[in-house]
Amino acid sequence: MDVFTAIKTRQSIRRFKTEPFPEETLEKILEASRYAPSAGNVQPWKFFVVRSKDVRVKLADAALGQKWMVTAPVIIVACADLPRSAASYRQRGSELYALQDTAAAIQNMILSAVEAGLACCWVGAFREEIAARILNINPQVLRPVAMIPLGYPAESPARPAKRPLEEIIEYID
Ligand SMILES: Cc1cc2nc3c(=O)[nH]c(=O)nc-3n(C[C@H](O)[C@H](O)[C@H](O)COP(=O)(O)O)c2cc1C
Repeated sequence: MDVFTAIKTRQSIRRFKTEPFPEETLEKILEASRYAPSAGNVQPWKFFVVRSKDVRVKLADAALGQKWMVTAPVIIVACADLPRSAASYRQRGSELYALQDTAAAIQNMILSAVEAGLACCWVGAFREEIAARILNINPQVLRPVAMIPLGYPAESPARPAKRPLEEIIEYID
């Protein structure tokens, strides 16, 4: 699948088949994260791959009760390593670059998942302190940025409208 097809095929999926997906697929998705751009190539990210049902239930609770997340066999929690960015870029690193870098790595994973026939949804609505407690991390160090439930899709919802190019682009010649 070419990248543009993956971009256009991707959509947020919120119901998954319970069957697991191959380990090699997971490895490929995780591998994709490593190649994302990052400010100064600092790579300030860490990913928790949660397969435990108990922990997935807890994460869904932390995500304001988005129970559908538990239907995914895997939830990846993407965290930004704030001190790692701050070491190079101080406040701009911890407040901006670390989040941008981690988001770029997340999108790499999402597009790789689509290419592998999987689906996911970027989940940003969650209580960071609770997620951090579940993962046993210090959120001042590793800030949880997103949860990504991942699996084979069990729904095909209508695609939400996207804003037209002319509304979002301004050329400056
Ligand atoms: C930063 C961010 C946070 C999001 N948080 C949630 C969320 O907590 N729950 C959810 O169901 N979807 C969440 N989404 C998915 C969006 O609702 C979805 O991307 C949007 O409606 C567009 O639909 P599409 O992804 O199918 O194109 C989030 C997406 C982003 C990028």
